[in-house]
Formats: sequence, structure tokens, C-alpha cells
Amino acid sequence: MEITYTQAREKLNKCGQEHVLRYYDELDDAGKTELLEQVAGTDFSVLDSLKQKDKGVQKGKITPLGAMELAEIEKSREHFCEIGMQAIREGKVGAVLLAGGMGTRLGSDDPKGVYNIGITKEIYIFERLIINLLEVVRCTDTWIPLFVMTSDKNHDATVRFLTAHDFFGYKAEYVHFFQQEMAPAAGYDGKIYMESKSRMSTSPNGNGGWYVSMKNTGVLDIVKKHGIEWLNVFAVDNVLQRIADPVFIGAVIEKQCTVGAKVVRKNAPDEKVGVMCLEDGRPSIVEYYELTEELMNAKNEKGEPAYNFGVILNYLFKESALHEMLKKKLPLHVVEKKIPYMDEAGNLVKPEEPNGYKFENLVLDMIHEMDSCLPFEVVRNREFAPIKNKTGVDSVESARALLRENGVDL
Ligand code: UTP
Repeated sequence: MEITYTQAREKLNKCGQEHVLRYYDELDDAGKTELLEQVAGTDFSVLDSLKQKDKGVQKGKITPLGAMELAEIEKSREHFCEIGMQAIREGKVGAVLLAGGMGTRLGSDDPKGVYNIGITKEIYIFERLIINLLEVVRCTDTWIPLFVMTSDKNHDATVRFLTAHDFFGYKAEYVHFFQQEMAPAAGYDGKIYMESKSRMSTSPNGNGGWYVSMKNTGVLDIVKKHGIEWLNVFAVDNVLQRIADPVFIGAVIEKQCTVGAKVVRKNAPDEKVGVMCLEDGRPSIVEYYELTEELMNAKNEKGEPAYNFGVILNYLFKESALHEMLKKKLPLHVVEKKIPYMDEAGNLVKPEEPNGYKFENLVLDMIHEMDSCLPFEVVRNREFAPIKNKTGVDSVESARALLRENGVDL
């Protein structure tokens, strides 16, 4: 997109970000073009959400939504499995790996998926996920298209790594990369940080942008071409993730829901996971920080906690139900994070503590746009080993212990 200096200045003036052009006169022609193009392609309206950041995202009336629990799943396991396997064999299922995040809590500069969790040998996060998906490929004798979302920050490194490892045995023609959009990142004063004299600091726009980015990058055409009807979206950082699980797929199809969500029983009422619920009668997720004391202690008719099933970022979306999403704007979350920036002396600083805001759409907000949702319980210790931190809760350490518990040799 072409834009002149004057147009860029006008666009920036309107949102109080004229400092972005502070070094413009010092730049060479390539630097000038880079900056003007970035200004032209940036949606600065995300900064408006700073005005409402303290209000958070407003929720409607929350009521419980029951899950399909383990005992019920067990009773129909074979039946669901058959339905799910058939859908896979008919080519109706695709998998979407959300790997565009920066993994700042883990503290590595590399994409999270290239993290080596092995001890006596190399075992990469990407490798663990692909091994799990390959199990389904083998038992259905069908390659499942795998769409990998990356971002500007980690795309090249991700593609290079997976290519160099021959996709850990996955057939390359079934792997499709696409990049998500970026959003500017601002300091606590609301001013966008500069990463260099010719570049604003940006960060991936959250995991909720995946479907829009599939459309914008053209990979949605592959979905259409192959007649894929179901998309299993999952996070990169759960190394026990079951992907394209036929039982889960079968249950969602059988119950005629437009989305399914894998859930685990919470291990404490105040555990930091989002829980399934109905919001104004539609499926939704309340984040742990939105869960009031009253909701935390509420009981269902069986006398059990009414909001007891936490989401693990593994959803099965009916693709046709997502078309409407393209017209909608999901809520924008203002998240405090560590943002690398250029200081007054022109050096790139990588802060140790959060120093500003990023703007993110979240996949969990997509659930509220769906008509019906099946929360599907899975055994926590078998399917949930997230790696967010180096040590402690949801860490490399805890995930290793869970992998061992599941017989994985490290
Ligand atoms: P998180 O919010 O836990 O991951 O994302 P993060 O942003 O990578 O990590 P921190 O908070 O900086 O430590 C959960 C999943 O969503 C993906 C991540 O890659 C992970 O699979 N994600 C997150 C994206 O694909 N894009 C994003 O913009 C953000």
C-alpha cells in the first residue's frame, strides 16, 4: 500500500502517534519506504481500546453449561469413534495449529514449538504434537491437512525448523503455513513503541485472528477445495494435546453442535483457567479473573460446582458456522506484556518486566458467536500438559513429569 509522508503524518496525528515519524529525516530511502508502508498497513483503532481497558470486556448474564462427562463418553466411545473416523476418512477434518504467539513467559527467542523438552535426547514441542497427530493419520489411513499459523516474528524460523526436520514424518504437502496479522504495541502512556528508527513495535494480534487470517492469506481456499467441514484448532504449547481425536469429533457431530471444546475438571475453584458457561443463553467462556465469588461457589442440580470445566484451547469448529465471523469484530483484549523497544540512544531493549500493552483477539471469544457448543471432558493428566513457563505451574518441568506419567521417554 502506497502512502506519502504527509498522508502518514495525518493518519498518525489523528491518533496522537506523530512521534512514529521522529527519525524519518535520518532514514535512507529504504527505511523511509519501510516506515511509510508500515504506517499505511497499521490499524491504529486498536489504541481506542486503551480508553476502556479498566472496564475489561463486558459480559452478559452467566448461567451454567453442562459438559459431556467421562462416564457418558465412555458409554458411547466406539460409536463416536466410528463417526469421527469416517469424517476424517472422508477428508472433512483439518487441524489448525496456533503457533503465532511469542511465548514471552518461556523466555526463548525461538518459536515455542522448537523448544527441546527432551532430557537424554532431543524432543521438540512441534515433534510431540506431530507424533500425536500421526497416530490418528495411521489409524484412519488418512492424511489430515495441518494448517500452521505463524506470525511475522516467527514465521521464517518455524518454516525453516520444520522443513529441516522433514516435518517429523508428516507429509509436507499436507502442511500449510499462514501468517496472522500484527498489531502495534504501546507503552503505558499509550504511545506506540519503536523497534527501530524505521519500524514500530508490533506483536501478533492474538490467537482469535486465526480464521480471518486464513481467509486473508488465501489458505481458506484450500479448506474449501478439499471440502473440509471441521477445523480442530489447538495451541502449540500443550504437549499432550490430542489432535483430530476421532471420539471428540464423533461426539460433536452426533450432538449436532457447531463447536466442541475439550475441557478438564478444574483442580481448584480458583484455578486459573477459563470455564465454559452460557452467556445470555449462548455458549461462552468466563475467564478466571472474571469469575466472581458467587459463580465460583455456585452448585448445579447434582450439588457439584456449576462452573467446573476449564478449556484447554482445543476446539472443533464447524467451518460453515465461521463465515459470519468474517463480518464481526471480536472484543479486543488489552494485555500487559514485555515489549522490546528502542531507547533514546537507539539501542534495542528487551525488558525483564511488562512495560506496556499489546492488543489481542482471543479464540475463546469465538465460542460466543457459535449457536451451540459441546464441552467434552478429557482426562486431565492424559491430555493437558501446557508449557507456559520455565519452572513451576504449567512449565517445562510440570510437562515433563506429565509426559513421563504417560510413558513418553525423555
Ligand atoms: P498464549 O497466550 O499462552 O501464548 O497463547 P503466548 O502469547 O505465545 O505466550 P506468552 O503469554 O507471551 O508467554 C496460547 C496459544 O495461542 C497462540 C500461541 O502460540 C499458543 O499456541 N497464539 C497466541 C497465537 O497463535 N497468536 C497470538 O497472537 C497469541
